[in-house]
Amino acid sequence: MSENAKITLEGKEFELPVVTGTEGEKAIDITKLRDQTGYITLDVGYKNTGATTSALTFLDGEVGLLRHRGYSIEDLAEKASFLEVAYLLIYGELPTRQEFSDFDNSIREHTLVNEGLENMFKVFPTGSHPMGQLISMISALSLFYPKSLNPHRDTDAVNRTMLRLMAKMPTICAMIFKKRNGHPIVYPKNNLDYVSNYLNMTFSQVTMDDYTADPIIVDAMNKLMILHADHEQNCSASTVRMVGSSNANLYCSVSAGISALWGPLHGGANQEVLEMLEMIKEDGGNVQKWVDKAKDKNDNFRLMGFGHRVYKNFDPRAKIIKKTCDDVLNKLGVHDPVLEIAKKLEEAALTDSYFVERKLYPNVDFYSGIIYRAMGFPTDFFTVLFAMGRLPGWIAQWQEMRNDKQPIARPRQIYTGPTERPFLFFDQRS
Ligand code: SDX
Repeated sequence: MSENAKITLEGKEFELPVVTGTEGEKAIDITKLRDQTGYITLDVGYKNTGATTSALTFLDGEVGLLRHRGYSIEDLAEKASFLEVAYLLIYGELPTRQEFSDFDNSIREHTLVNEGLENMFKVFPTGSHPMGQLISMISALSLFYPKSLNPHRDTDAVNRTMLRLMAKMPTICAMIFKKRNGHPIVYPKNNLDYVSNYLNMTFSQVTMDDYTADPIIVDAMNKLMILHADHEQNCSASTVRMVGSSNANLYCSVSAGISALWGPLHGGANQEVLEMLEMIKEDGGNVQKWVDKAKDKNDNFRLMGFGHRVYKNFDPRAKIIKKTCDDVLNKLGVHDPVLEIAKKLEEAALTDSYFVERKLYPNVDFYSGIIYRAMGFPTDFFTVLFAMGRLPGWIAQWQEMRNDKQPIARPRQIYTGPTERPFLFFDQRS
């Protein structure tokens, strides 16, 4: 146990306990700070504030390290399937062969969605953003499973809800893809593995009997989903915890997480990266011009896909995605000019003192969009794919928060508005 932290306020000394994590991280536990001192802390954006303890994911932004329940992201991306990683995050251990078979089969039983959900597409405006559709569809699941609304129900009911979400997310994502192209939906085939089933529902046609997902694409999608599976207390995971802490059901908690992920500073960055690269290409490919704009404080332009709240070194996921990107495009024989621009942009930024001093490196979103595009996904669909990968992380974060019996999240504030003043009637107001 580390020694206590001591603070002096208004001449009085107070001691606060120090918490040390299994990887040696240290925190000052301020649970009793206000009771003891009348003071709260202020940390806009929670850049220095731990909202919880967690056993799911450990990352060290200084050295660029990421592990899930002790397993390195490099090992998991290379050796595991996405469903194995989902099991690891949700249940705490890599599954035995039997446990995996039971998990996989349970998910296959729930891949269909209620036909009533398809009616929602009749009201979605043509061309409406797939993330808005996904948020609506996942939230609507709570309407079809009213018995799942009480998270205090027995463990089996909560587990069934988790399995239903895992099973129906790919089906819903594929439905959104098909409906936006005006194509009939393709139903899940439960003889296919999780990722192949998603790709089949997305890219095969009802008129095709012999579609087989390219193993290169299946392997790349499996890796990409693993790399997106969880990332400790990021904006969307914290949102899922915040909403779930009010005893809201898992469907609407995850729907709120998808909403947070949509933001261009978070998961929406992968769409913004491709749009930025396209813009630079259309502008003649003058990479240095855009690096200079990103550095200019008077210019709102930021290098999308660069920088990270926690990583002050290379995002380990970006390294794996960059290699996967090269492999996929080479094996598919795809030459994407924006990939060349991305590499030039990365090279220019990594040698520029502005980015080096601020420790701004490519993040998980920098290369992922290029692979998604090579697979045949439109730019505004990239964040849907991020959400599909992040789902087990959100489920595991929500479950950990509930298992730890955490209280409803209710941060405090420092008020900076007007002090008390008398009400004025209209003729008294200037
Ligand atoms: C994800 O949290 C997670 O784990 C998220 C995620 C996950 O897996 O869940 O990893 C996924 O969301 C990755 C991040 C994707 N977003 C982007 O790529 C958008 C572009 N990046 C930036 O907007 C920014 O880097 C953030 C939002 C990611 C991080 O912002 P911070 O930590 O609040 O950093 P900051 O805004 O305080 O920036 C520090 C300095 C500032 O300059 P100064 O005021 O010190 O002079 O760095 C500059 C910023 O202006 N800066 C950038 C920049 N990012 C930061 N300048 C140019 N281009 C950028 N991309």
